[in-house]
Amino acid sequence: MKFASRVTKLEPSITLAVTARANAMKAKGEDVVAFGAGEPDFDTPAHIQEAAIKAMRDGLTRYTPALGLPALRAAVAEKYSAFYHYPTTPKNVAISCGGKHSLYNVFHALVERGDEVLIPAPYWVSYPEMVKLAGGVPVIVETDEDTGFRVTVDRLRAYTTDRTKILLINSPSNPTGAAYHRKELEAIAEFVLENDLVLISDEIYEHLVFDDFEFVCFPTLAEELRERTVVVSGASKTYAMTGWRIGWTVAPEGLIEMMGRLQDQSTSNATSFAQAGAIAALKGPQDCVKTMCAAFAERRAYMMRRLAELPNVACCVPQGAFYVFPKVSACYGRQAGGRAVDGSVALSEYLLEKVKVAVVPGIGFGADANIRLSYATSMQQIEKGLDRIAEALGAL
Ligand SMILES: Cc1ncc(COP(=O)(O)O)c(C=O)c1O
Repeated sequence: MKFASRVTKLEPSITLAVTARANAMKAKGEDVVAFGAGEPDFDTPAHIQEAAIKAMRDGLTRYTPALGLPALRAAVAEKYSAFYHYPTTPKNVAISCGGKHSLYNVFHALVERGDEVLIPAPYWVSYPEMVKLAGGVPVIVETDEDTGFRVTVDRLRAYTTDRTKILLINSPSNPTGAAYHRKELEAIAEFVLENDLVLISDEIYEHLVFDDFEFVCFPTLAEELRERTVVVSGASKTYAMTGWRIGWTVAPEGLIEMMGRLQDQSTSNATSFAQAGAIAALKGPQDCVKTMCAAFAERRAYMMRRLAELPNVACCVPQGAFYVFPKVSACYGRQAGGRAVDGSVALSEYLLEKVKVAVVPGIGFGADANIRLSYATSMQQIEKGLDRIAEALGAL
């Protein structure tokens, strides 16, 4: 069988590959500490589970409209209107099978062959591949520790051409945890308007920010942004609902209609009773979010303290999400078991083989000098994992 080049050219997800390898070792009974997870380690709060179970028992087991239950679209619209003071109607909302699916459909609805999409690096692994699948050209704009991994307008300008159509911003970011301050976003907004661009704002980690950091929902910055901004978010990270597959897009009605056409002819609706769970998540008590966020904040503080003690490791303080992205390239060039540690993949393999700690190589996020550690795992595992990393790096 000959496969289509559109799929043979796809890069496999490096994060899922690391998790699979660590899981295979665990299944063999090995004591692996996994820092690979891209999902909260908490169970979905009980009231959300109950709402979905009740919905299923009450017969919500059939197709819903492709763009989602009217009640869920209304709940999302109400959240943006009330919480962010961003007037939103249900017609501005599309419900998809996770934020990933929302992004996939947004790119398919907007990108024409050859359109360029500016993607600041380090980036979430799926963005460039999704842009390529839609026929577009991902244009990677590098950032580093000097600007806290936040892209500047000067840098964006250097990569802008007459084919540039979209700028993607992910704040707080996977993999760096970097989040943009209001002033920085205002400068980016001006740049977007000046260059007649569409801005896709991936806000999936919007509620996971620390130390009273002010998260800004991008289109709230200026009225003129409304017609050119697409916000993507969802239930996965905020409510520990990764397996439920509920994501949403908030955008001008025209784009939502186009996403409806795509969903009509591909997935149809996101799972009916999972949508009922998402309604309970959005409309129910929010203290579960605060509790989870406080646990992440405590773990982040511990990780930062321990990473600061490691020689040859430097780490920016993340403002949000549940990742740290330390720079480890000062360890490169050293020998381990007769092999040179020559990059983030070799270092990750060394850590897995030598001390059974799974981390994600930065190269998958466009930053080979770094590795990603998720702290969506218990404090006990974090302590054990960092002890082991200290031992392994000390032996290099
Ligand atoms: C930056 C970013 N955007 C979007 C997603 C998609 O999340 P989901 O499809 O689970 O809603 C993820 C998940 O890892 C992510 O890290």
